[in-house]
Amino acid sequence: MQLDRRHFIASLGGAAAVKLMSHEARAEALETYMSLQLNTPATPARKFPTAAQIETQIETRHYRRGVGSAFLVTSADSKVKKLEPMPAKPNLHDFFRLRFGQFSNHVFQSANRALKTGMSEEVILACLLHDTVQVLMKTDHGWWGADLYAPYVPERTAFAIRYHQALRFYADTKNGYEYPDLYRSMFGEDYVPGPHIEAAYKYAKDHKWYMDSRMVTVNDLYAFEPGVVVTIEPFADVIGRHFKNPKEGLGNDNSPVAHMWRTIATPDNPL
Ligand SMILES: [Fe+2]
Ligand SMILES: [Fe+2]
Repeated sequence: MQLDRRHFIASLGGAAAVKLMSHEARAEALETYMSLQLNTPATPARKFPTAAQIETQIETRHYRRGVGSAFLVTSADSKVKKLEPMPAKPNLHDFFRLRFGQFSNHVFQSANRALKTGMSEEVILACLLHDTVQVLMKTDHGWWGADLYAPYVPERTAFAIRYHQALRFYADTKNGYEYPDLYRSMFGEDYVPGPHIEAAYKYAKDHKWYMDSRMVTVNDLYAFEPGVVVTIEPFADVIGRHFKNPKEGLGNDNSPVAHMWRTIATPDNPL
């Protein structure tokens, strides 16, 4: 079997990440990679929609794609479920358990990859949190997510969350990030990101924390592995060290973003 060296290195988080791995860890990763490749059937060349075709789909839906997943189910014949009540002083673990729903598994896998490839704790935490705000809002989720977490996490973690959204649109093959086919499907193959995305990319590209944000995208790209279940347990220490949970509970602390946590906790409130 032929090894696609570039893909393999990218799958581990790039050359810098590989350098940090022990000899044994590298050998083990190679073995895992080869067995995964053997089990993956070759996919035929895909045809992606154009941006114009994506736009014509707007009026076929009863919802807008940017709304947070807590507020609707997208299949027409389903209904939303009653949510379990939150504890009086909820912490981050409670939100993961009771509100983050479908995004938990994705971010656990992403953070797990970051942990395995020797990322800093700030980056592991950024990977763990990077998409969870999509329960509240999907449009511009990098900005929404960074705002939601900024009062509670290290500044560079919030930076990494904010800019991962823009960086997802720009390849950085040297560091192991290719433009994802997922985006060709979601936005259209000829999609051009808006000016605020381009401006954010240009700003982040020259920033001293660029690699923090870039590593969120690198660990994000290969994180959708069906069947790989990860829990919050491996990250409890990182959360304990770097997430300042307010003693009153998230949403009760009068921070500038407390209302965002309350909205996630009580999405059924009509006003
Ligand atoms: Fe994201
Ligand atoms: Fe993601």
